[in-house]
Amino acid sequence: MDKHVIPIGTTLDRFIMRKEQQFPYASGELSQLLRDIALAGKIIHREVNRAGLIDITGAYGSQNIQGEEQQKLDVVADVRFVRALKNGREVCGIISEEQEGVIDTENHDGRYIVAIDPLDGSSNIDVNVSIGTIFSIYRRISPVGSPPVMEDFLQPGHKQVAAGYVLYGSSTMLVYTTGYGVNGFTYEQTLGEFILCDVDIHTPPVGKIYSTNEGNWNSFPPQIREYIDFCKSQCYSSRYIGSLVADFHRNLFKGGIYLYPPTQKANNGKLRLMYECNALAFLVEQAGGKATDGKQRILDIQPTSLHQRCPLYIGSSQMMDKLDTFLQATQVR
Ligand code: AHG
Ligand code: MN
Ligand code: MN
Repeated sequence: MDKHVIPIGTTLDRFIMRKEQQFPYASGELSQLLRDIALAGKIIHREVNRAGLIDITGAYGSQNIQGEEQQKLDVVADVRFVRALKNGREVCGIISEEQEGVIDTENHDGRYIVAIDPLDGSSNIDVNVSIGTIFSIYRRISPVGSPPVMEDFLQPGHKQVAAGYVLYGSSTMLVYTTGYGVNGFTYEQTLGEFILCDVDIHTPPVGKIYSTNEGNWNSFPPQIREYIDFCKSQCYSSRYIGSLVADFHRNLFKGGIYLYPPTQKANNGKLRLMYECNALAFLVEQAGGKATDGKQRILDIQPTSLHQRCPLYIGSSQMMDKLDTFLQATQVR
């Protein structure tokens, strides 16, 4: 057997170690950071799975900086994740959906910056529907040993060195990339380990699913309505969970397209570039798909603020190409 082939059933720790051995100059710091993220994922898995048992669900009684009601589990996930990254010492700064400013971890020797959506799909927490954690990892630009600066955080998505998500669904899965393909791991609770189950994931070039919140139909741009009419004319299936990470995961495996266009209420779309769109765009491209904001590649957008939003169109390559023919009729965003 090729010594570079890592078999299904390998634990995440061993997988990370084997990958590191394939890069003779790897320092091991990114490997350690990925382990820290996996640990945070296990902790949040535990909290999510007992959400119905203890008084943890329901509104926290405060709003986050997006003006949205925070759920207790949003806050729990944020606290747990940030703590795991601080303790790991590889990260000098964090951006989180749940915190307005940047988080200085005070590990100024850390070489990495992380952007997180600690809990995505929080409207689904109380109703036992799949939710997830999304993360992006960047190498810092400022010198090691100093506090992180804004330039470290506002990097375009193509600078990501790794990205992924943990999906808390019918099983918990970690799916991530370091720019050399996408791999998926299922959490085996009794062992406390993520186990490799999906090797080098490729998304089908074409699928039969479109995912969008059609409740916003009246305020969708006309070209998007026309494209959705086209999907209907092809008898595609409409599937929308309302947790981006879960909608993305389904489409990644089955083939499909996800659309969150600008709407009257959210004229730059609803989703956040830094900790939702970029990570999924990196993953989908690594899996052979595409992601744009209707004008340009998501990964090429130069961020100007930490919590900026952008329209998101993401999925199977041929479906994205078809969407493009509609968008090019008149440029919309
Ligand atoms: P979050 O829970 O992190 O705030 O994200 C919610 C996002 C995303 O998960 C989901 O796809 C989208 O909001 C759903 O928005 P609509 O309810 O407008 O469809
Ligand atoms: Mn989210
Ligand atoms: Mn969130």
